Amino acid sequence: MSKPRVAVVFGGRNSEHAVSLMGAGSVLDAIDRTKYEVIPIGIAQDGRWVLAASDQRFAIESGELPVVDTSGAALALPSGDSSLVAYDPGSIPVELGSVDVVFPVMHGPFAEDGTIQGLLEMAGVRYVGSGVLASAVGMDKAHMKTVMAAAGLPTGRYVVVRDRDWRIGRECVLKEAEELGYPVFVKPARAGSSQGISKASDRAELEAAVEAARQHDPKVIIEAAIVGREIECAVLQSLGDEPATASMPGEVRVEGGQDFFDFEAKYYPDQMSLTVPADIPQETAEELRAMAVRAFEALECEGLARVDFFYTPEGQVIFNEINTMPGFTSLSVAPQLWAASGLSYPALVDRLVQLALSRSPGLR
Ligand SMILES: Nc1ncnc2c1ncn2[C@@H]1O[C@H](COP(=O)(O)OP(=O)(O)O)[C@@H](O)[C@H]1O
Ligand SMILES: [Mg+2]
Repeated sequence: MSKPRVAVVFGGRNSEHAVSLMGAGSVLDAIDRTKYEVIPIGIAQDGRWVLAASDQRFAIESGELPVVDTSGAALALPSGDSSLVAYDPGSIPVELGSVDVVFPVMHGPFAEDGTIQGLLEMAGVRYVGSGVLASAVGMDKAHMKTVMAAAGLPTGRYVVVRDRDWRIGRECVLKEAEELGYPVFVKPARAGSSQGISKASDRAELEAAVEAARQHDPKVIIEAAIVGREIECAVLQSLGDEPATASMPGEVRVEGGQDFFDFEAKYYPDQMSLTVPADIPQETAEELRAMAVRAFEALECEGLARVDFFYTPEGQVIFNEINTMPGFTSLSVAPQLWAASGLSYPALVDRLVQLALSRSPGLR
C-alpha cells in the first residue's frame, strides 16, 4: 500500500508569513516519513503557490525572518480530483499526483481564517484542523467573543470599530471606547501574533492605536484592559467519538520587559517563559480546562486549538481568545502544553494527520 501523501502548506499572504514558516519547519522535521510521503508547498507573499525549494529557510537567522523562496516550480491549485500540477513557464506541466491530506501550517487572514479551508473543501481535499466556519469565526475577535459569550464563557468588555464607523463617526467611536476606561487594548479584528496591537492610555494614543491596527485590518476591536496572569490551554479532538480533551494549563509570562505579549516577546529568544502546569489552584485548573473544551465545541473546532485566558487576582477566569491554528513550532505553547501532558510533538503531528485522514471531505 502506498503511503498517504501529505502536503505541508506554509507561508501565505499576511503578516504572519514568517511565523507560519517557523511552524512548518518544525512539522517537516517531525513528520514520520516512513509513514507519509511529504510534499512541502509554499504560498509566497504575493499569493503564488510553489513547490518548496530544497534550501528553503524556515528559521529566523541573524534576526531576519524567513520568507517563501519562489525559485521552486509554480503549482496549480488543487483541482476537483485533488491532484497537484507543477508548471514552469515554457515547459510542459508535470502532474504531481493527488494529495491525501493538506496540513496548512498557516496563521492569519487568507490562511487560518477559512479561506484556504474553503478552497480545499471546494477541491474535495482533506485537511488538518478546523473547517471553514470555525476558522473564520475564530479569526475574527469580534465574532469569536459573541460566540463565546453565547456559550457562557466570561469575556471582557469591548467595542468593535468597523471601517465606516471610523471614517465617518470617529468622535462617536472615541467616546464609546473611552467609556471602557483607560488603558485599552486596540487590535486588528483579524490578525494574530500581536501584530498591530497596542495599549493606549489616553486619547492621542487611542487614535494612533486605531490607525496602527487599521494598517492590518479595516475592522478594529478596542478592549478594556484586563489585569491578570495569562493562562493557556490546548484542546485536541479525539480520534473516536469521545469528546475533545484539554491539556494541562500553562502560564505564559513576558520576560523581556515588554508591557504585554507583543511580537518580540512571542518569537525572539528568551523573551517569554512558559510554566506547565500553571501554578494555580487545582479547581481553577479544572474549570479552565472545561472552559477550553467548551470554547472548542462552541466554535465546532476540529483538530487542535489553543484557548487563552486571563486569571485575575480576584480568582476570576476570563476568556481572551481561541486560536484554531495556534503557533506550531515544536517550542510553541500548544505543542509544549501537549508534551507536558504526555503527547510528544511528533505524536501530536501524527494525531492531527490521522484526524484529518479519518474525516470525510464535505459537510460534517
Ligand atoms: N484586554 C486585554 N487586557 C490585557 N492584556 C491584553 C488584552 N488583550 C490583549 N492583551 C495582551 O496582548 C496580547 C495579544 O493579544 P491577543 O488578543 O491574544 O492577540 P493575538 O491574536 O495577536 O495573540 C495578549 O497575550 C496579552 O498579553
Ligand atoms: Mg493571543
